[in-house]
Amino acid sequence: MLACAIACACGDDSGTIEGGPPEVECPSAPDEVPRFDQVDAISQVCTECHDSSLSGASRRNAPSNLNFDDYDIAHAHAERMATEVYWGNMPPSGSGLTLTPDQIDELFLWAMCGAPE
Ligand code: HEC
Repeated sequence: MLACAIACACGDDSGTIEGGPPEVECPSAPDEVPRFDQVDAISQVCTECHDSSLSGASRRNAPSNLNFDDYDIAHAHAERMATEVYWGNMPPSGSGLTLTPDQIDELFLWAMCGAPE
């Protein structure tokens, strides 16, 4: 009963996420976690669609409230961002955009270890 309650509590607001966020071993030294503006995945790939300067078709259907050039928005959605990437939902297949393993590691480290500004 309890196990079910816990299992069902994760991701119940999403139809697209198959499972939880990636497991990340966070470094004990906080300065080993990249800061927001150092996370290339976000600044170079996610913001191709999720950017407040984009509107209409150039957003390529990215939700209008998910602008990852904005730290507060990215911070609020950090775990979700990592989870979408972990399960292969973002960047969308067919977009022609991909992440390198290093970019993914860096994004996960940022997102799962406090998402510092
Ligand atoms: C080619 C455009 C494009 C790029 C690049 C892109 N996204 Fe998205 N994103 C979308 C679209 C379209 C949606 C809405 C449809 C969906 O959820 O699949 C979305 C939705 C999302 C959502 C909300 C999902 C949900 O179910 O609520 C998150 C979180 C997200 N993207 C994170 C990211 C991250 C992190 C990156 C960079 C690694 C990224 N996206 C790159 C187009 C993009």
